[in-house]
Amino acid sequence: MAFTGTGKVWMNGALVDWADAKIHIASHVVHYGSGVFEGARCYHTPRGSACFRLDTHMKRLYDSARIYRMEPQVDQATLTEAVLQTIRANEQKACYIRPIIYRGYHALGVNPFPCPVDAAVLTWEWGAYLGKDALENGVDVRIASWARSAPNTLPTLAKTSANYANSSLIKMEAITEGYSEGIALDTFGYLSEGSGQNLFVVRDGMIYTPPLTASILPGITRNSVMTIARDLGYKVREEMLPRELLYICDEAFFAGTAVEITPIRSVDKITVGDGRRGPITAAIQKAYFDIINGEVPDRHNWLTFVYPGEPLQAVGAGSGKGAARG
Ligand SMILES: Cc1ncc(COP(=O)(O)O)c(C=O)c1O
Repeated sequence: MAFTGTGKVWMNGALVDWADAKIHIASHVVHYGSGVFEGARCYHTPRGSACFRLDTHMKRLYDSARIYRMEPQVDQATLTEAVLQTIRANEQKACYIRPIIYRGYHALGVNPFPCPVDAAVLTWEWGAYLGKDALENGVDVRIASWARSAPNTLPTLAKTSANYANSSLIKMEAITEGYSEGIALDTFGYLSEGSGQNLFVVRDGMIYTPPLTASILPGITRNSVMTIARDLGYKVREEMLPRELLYICDEAFFAGTAVEITPIRSVDKITVGDGRRGPITAAIQKAYFDIINGEVPDRHNWLTFVYPGEPLQAVGAGSGKGAARG
């Protein structure tokens, strides 16, 4: 979905018009991918607008900066407040949130240290990433011919702009060949993750997901899914998983801020389970949507309400249905 080009962007401490949110072409990040960023969502719940796990996203952002020896001019609390300020300035009820810390304009060269470490926050309205139908009926995916980065090359615990060159190759290959997504293996041939989402597989009632050592981004939705699944009484195992498990599993699904929880219907044209959203995927998806839609108590303290006066009332106090998602 194209940008509307309106609203405000937070840049280094000031809210500027969207059209004026510019950096110089000689900025380090443009040439060397020296940015770290986050993708979070704010949901419109019946109790008000709430960001999902904002503090956890901001923690990961500052962890990413630390891995890349960046010292942001603003601290984590200030940038977190800037996110809330930007949503309020744009009067958004639901939106996607993109804070970015990047090496700016000074001089060009592989050594990034002379360049300033700048920060910005963008927010925009963004619906279901793979389409609304995908959330219910699932998506067709392929195993990517591209592997994820090998250990000790590009660190995957950091959400850096540079890593998304690899993600784009996976995504372009999938789209070009008529699939919605690609699942990448790590360089040892074990299952890793999608271009922008983590992977879960269900077999014989057990839920499996690749571990952090399989070159994955430590997804916040992945963590939420593991928490929800255990709350629901399921067992979750983080294990190195062989590719062929996807061909014989009962259910498989993606988890990520953008895709939320999206069932996988087929892999390499082999049907997953009976080709429909499976019961465990459905149960976890429902529990997840109930939380982000503010329809159940926020028992893990995952919601940050954006506007003064919100949350409007306690869950279960007759707030009614009809929450719009991001
Ligand atoms: C490569 C990759 N893996 C996994 C994820 C899922 O992470 P999260 O659930 O924190 O959005 C993302 C999304 O940011 C991603 O880009």
